[in-house]
Amino acid sequence: MLSRFLALDRLLLPTQPLWRVQPFHHLDLPWQHTHPALCEALSALDLPALQGLEQDALGRQALLWPLVPQAAELATLCRLPHLPCSAPMAAPAHVPGRKWAQIWAFAQQLDAADRQGHILEWCAGKGHLGRLLARQGQPVVSLEWDADLCQAARQLSAGLPQQIVQQDVLASGSGPWLAGARQAVALHACGDLHRHLLQQGVAQGVASLSLAPCCYHKHAHEQYQPLSRAAQASALGLTRRQLQLPLQETVTGGARVRRLRWQELSWRLTFDALQRDLRGEETYLPLPSFAKERLAGELLAFIRWAADTKGLTLPAQLDVTPYLQQAQARLAQVLRMELVLGLFRRPLELWLLCDYALYLQEQGYGVSLAEFCERPLTPRNILLQAHKLASAEGG
Ligand SMILES: C[S@@+](CC[C@H](N)C(=O)[O-])C[C@H]1O[C@@H](n2cnc3c(N)ncnc32)[C@H](O)[C@@H]1O
Repeated sequence: MLSRFLALDRLLLPTQPLWRVQPFHHLDLPWQHTHPALCEALSALDLPALQGLEQDALGRQALLWPLVPQAAELATLCRLPHLPCSAPMAAPAHVPGRKWAQIWAFAQQLDAADRQGHILEWCAGKGHLGRLLARQGQPVVSLEWDADLCQAARQLSAGLPQQIVQQDVLASGSGPWLAGARQAVALHACGDLHRHLLQQGVAQGVASLSLAPCCYHKHAHEQYQPLSRAAQASALGLTRRQLQLPLQETVTGGARVRRLRWQELSWRLTFDALQRDLRGEETYLPLPSFAKERLAGELLAFIRWAADTKGLTLPAQLDVTPYLQQAQARLAQVLRMELVLGLFRRPLELWLLCDYALYLQEQGYGVSLAEFCERPLTPRNILLQAHKLASAEGG
């Protein structure tokens, strides 16, 4: 684990100019001086070619690996074992199929009950994972802070050995539930919620932890606070924005999802071209995220909403056509930068997971990282499993 972490760290450090880039802030490729051959190869790709490459891993590899010397080794460092999984039973009516397949795959990797105590489900949502375990006869306590989700979970778990507890997991009240648990499980608990589980699980001496983390950027601090000594000694210094990089990748979407994404990028860039013109400033003005329904309307209505959100007054007569044309050219430029960023998303995720794993090792746990399902099922498909080593038991 340490050698994987140090190798990732060594390769991510010199490549920072490639992955710290924010595509919307740049009108041109920002690596003309440092990576001229890369820029030349990217510039030769038109929009359809760039859009096609999003679905073509081998094409991306053939294009980028010769031009980014660290890329091949980074990809090798991201290879993890795939855990075997039997075909899932039919999904219950109340669980979406994709969620059910994730839960099934996750549950397959958990140890059979060989200890006293309950399984603790952390950030349970409607408690679907816990309920599958409870159906196997294992006592489960599911912690969730949302009252409506708890209510729904209680109805679904009637008659099963699953207790639903409304609890903020970040509050001290979660401690006793951890202390009594033989194992804690967390499927897609976000950022600080899963990091708190690691720290509190250690503090309460939980024998076994299994988690598939997500939303690393949901962090109370602007600067990432590493958990392990190795990551604390790293010069990488990630910010919240870089913690989000692993999430900014569409691996689960079909053609419609991709088309919507390109439309969103293009509309955002149209507004960007317009706002630069209106303000007379060549700087990006970030727009907040918005409901996808907004993309079903007219471009002009979107522009009005965006201007309103940013407190800009639009001219009475507005022709968006020239701005839309500029946006199409910039869309290609953004996709070129995204191609390069794509080389670093998974390595950054692995860097973070190695930080968690090394922290647990320092605390006397044996730790493994593996993929518990295919990425199209969920891009957050890495399972971290930790078992307190005998020498650390009772210590
Ligand atoms: C991404 S969902 C995952 C839910 C479930 N584990 C699953 O995979 O379907 C994260 C859950 O964490 C819950 N949550 C967020 N903050 C929490 C907190 N401080 N304490 C307890 N639960 C929290 C949310 O309400 C949500 O149900």
